This record gives sequence, structure tokens and C-alpha cells, in this order.
Amino acid sequence: MSKLAKFPDGFLWGGAVAANQLEGAFQEDGKGLSTADVSPNGIMSPPDFSLEKFNLYHKGIDFYYTYKEDIALFAEMGFKAFRFSIAWTRIFPNGDEQTPNEKGLEFYDKVIDELLKYNIEPVVTLSHYEMPLGLVKNYGGWKNRKVVEFYERFATTLFERYHKKVKYWMTFNEINVNLHAPFTGGGLLFEDGKKNEQDIYQAVHHQFVASALAVKAGHEINSNLQIGCMIASMLTYPYTSKPEDMFAALTQDRKTLFFSDVQSRGYYPAYMKNYFIENDITIVMEEGDENILREHTVDYIGFSYYMSFVASTDPDHVKLQTSGNLLAGLKNPYLKASEWGWQIDPVGLRTVCNQLYDRYEKPLFIVENGLGAIDKLEEDGTINDDYRIDYLRAHIEEMKKAIGDGCNIIGYTSWGPIDLVSASTAELKKRYGYIYVDRDSEGEGSNKRYKKKSFHWYKNVIATNGENLA
Ligand code: BG6
Repeated sequence: MSKLAKFPDGFLWGGAVAANQLEGAFQEDGKGLSTADVSPNGIMSPPDFSLEKFNLYHKGIDFYYTYKEDIALFAEMGFKAFRFSIAWTRIFPNGDEQTPNEKGLEFYDKVIDELLKYNIEPVVTLSHYEMPLGLVKNYGGWKNRKVVEFYERFATTLFERYHKKVKYWMTFNEINVNLHAPFTGGGLLFEDGKKNEQDIYQAVHHQFVASALAVKAGHEINSNLQIGCMIASMLTYPYTSKPEDMFAALTQDRKTLFFSDVQSRGYYPAYMKNYFIENDITIVMEEGDENILREHTVDYIGFSYYMSFVASTDPDHVKLQTSGNLLAGLKNPYLKASEWGWQIDPVGLRTVCNQLYDRYEKPLFIVENGLGAIDKLEEDGTINDDYRIDYLRAHIEEMKKAIGDGCNIIGYTSWGPIDLVSASTAELKKRYGYIYVDRDSEGEGSNKRYKKKSFHWYKNVIATNGENLA
């Protein structure tokens, strides 16, 4: 390994969660209904508006009530940072109110103060896989320009309240989810049930503008704020060295990089403008939009990394499918997969870091990575999750190599440091945590917390600033 492969002082080690996947208390203290509250089968399935249907997101792991003891456990692991999202519906229950719900803000006051008590840096995602249902029902979601204004109000409310306490922000979680799960990403419903790219890209344009306006507002309130984008990185390999396969991989990568291109460089890339023309997509822009995008680009590139993908132009290869977080893909013969079919590729993380750093030369923040697996709680209360340690160790080693390559990586918050409800499948048996939560996919169990083997391992990783990964 390069002698320069060393984590810098102040590296932000920690974990990442999303409000709707762990808070529960879905109607407490004036919270409105969100898109997640009507997505009982997860983000990839159609919504179900009948609330009688059991929805695990309504319960989460009750973090709304247990945040103190959970944060104490993060502190025991030595967390330097904790990434969480603020549920839009706790602050603006329907999305279009003029004034915020004070009770909702009070909950996040307490969470942030609790983190600061242990010197844990709060890292806030403004919108993580949820938006007020009111904005879907009354405005049609993000395809309506009005939503930009409501989001701006939401963002400004939070910047004003927390700018002295929270330095790191992200505007939209995995903004590229819009292409794969448009209801979750943009609150979009389609009359004939079929995805329509015109609406999706229009909604995405509004999110780009909203994100840039949030960057503007945040910087005006406090110039020290660091406001990033967040993409689900989806590195694609060509299945063979056939030139056409290479081009297919490049084309697939652009579907993801388009998002960070606009948010980081500040303009629509030529390949996307041509794609719109070829596909009869017209983006309606208001005067000034292009300037807003250009002038208020993000400060850093946040991204998740779980797996890599493969592209091929050969119909025989195209049949070899595996599943993934947002996208099903081709099987890579060189890789093993998780129990959910996500292909495990630590070296891909090094490649993604280099790809993004070469492209933007902005700090990188790895804000999600981890292994979803079935854990067994033993009779003596232990959980021996060596498979998770192996996964994380291999990825951290590659991240370290990327630093040696010259990438400026500022932090690593692994996904779900405490078990929570999964996004793609809305279940609790798929676990990511260092902390086991005794609750099952039916919402049953004591809800008691247990430290897994990985808890002690990660604690040591942090204590040695990534030097000891054994
Ligand atoms: C990311 C999301 O795509 O993947 C998280 O930002 C999500 O919200 C994570 O939980 C893991 O996916 P899943 O489906 O295993 O929960």
C-alpha cells in the first residue's frame, strides 16, 4: 500500500440513517404523512394509500423515543459523525405551511444537542427518501415548480435554526433514485402506471434548482456551512473488452454521473442535452435557472457505495441478472453477492473514489456503505457477524488506498449503524448494524439493543483512525 494511504486527522468516522427508516412515531407531535408512510413494501413498489395496511416504517425502531440510549451507544463506539435526515413532515406536515411545526423542530433540537454532548458531528440530509404526502396529492410532487419554494422554506428554516450547530448538510439523498423509484424520489404518480421520463426529468430539474437555492441560502446564512450532493454511485464495468460493451458501460454510468455533473459543475452536460432531444424530452426552465445552477454548486460530493454493475451488448449476457439497490444488473463472474444479490466489490469503491475525484476535484464524503445480512441473536446475547466485519474491512482498506491515490476523502459513515427498516424491501431481517435491535419484520420483539461483534471491531477502527482493521 502507498505510504500516503493514511486517514487524515479529523476524519469523520461514523454511521448514517434516515428518519423514516428508524424514527417510528409517524403521527406523533403533529407529524404529517410522508410518501414513506404509504410505501408498505419499500421504495421500489407502488404506494398503497390505505393506512390500515401494516407498514414497518410507522414503527421503525422507535428512535423517536430511544435516541438518547442509541446515541450513547454510538458515542461508546467513538463516532466522530452521525448522518441522519430530518423528516420534512415533522417540520411542515403537509409541506405547504407558512410556519414550521415547533414540536417537530424540538425533537431535532434534542437529537443534535445529544450528539454535540459527545462531540459527534451531526451531518444532516434534508430529504431522504420521503416528502410530505400533501405535496403529492395537492401539487403532483416535484414535477410542479411550486414545490421548489416549499423545499426552500424547509431548508432555510433548518439552516437558520441549526447553522451554529450543524456544519455538514446534504440536499437530497441519492438524487438519482428519481430514475428508478420516481414516487420515492419525486413524489410522482403516473396515470397509466408507466414511468414517463418527461415528468421525471422535469421533477429532477426542479430538485436541481431547489438544491442550488438551498446551497445559496445556507451559504448566505453561514458561509462555513458545507452543503453537498448525494448520489447512489453505480460504477459499471464492460462485461467484455468488446468496444461496444465499453460504450454501454459509459452510457450506463452517465445515468448516475449526470446528477453530480449538474450539482457539482453547475450545468447540464452535452450528452444529456442530446439525450433529451433524441427522446423528445423538454425541460421547462425559468429565466435565471441556469445562473442559479452555475452559481451555487455543491461543496462536496456525498455518495453511497454498496456494489458495482456490469453492462453488455450481448443478448446472452443480458439474461444473467442479479438484483441491486436501485437497479437490477448483470452478474459479474468475479464477484460474490450478498444474500440479497448485491455484488460485493471493495475495489470498486477505490475506483469510484478516483472517478469522482478526477471528475470534480471536490472533497468526497462516503456517506453510505455496508452489508445487509441476516443476523442471529445467540442465547448468550452475542451476535457473531464476522461476514459484516469482512465486508467493511475490505471496503475501508480500498478507501484508504484511494486516499493514497490522491483522493481527498473527508469521512465515512457506514449505513445503518443500528439495525433499521430496509428501504428497498421494507423489512427488518435485512440488517446492517453494529447494534442489533430485537424487532422483526412484523414489528414484533422487545426492541432491546445488543452489541454485535462488529460493534467492538468498529470501535477499534475508529480509535486507531483506521490503522488497525484486524
Ligand atoms: C441506500 C439508501 O440506497 O441504500 C438507504 O440511501 C438504504 O436509505 C440503503 O436503506 C440500503 O438499502 P436497503 O434496501 O438494503 O435498505
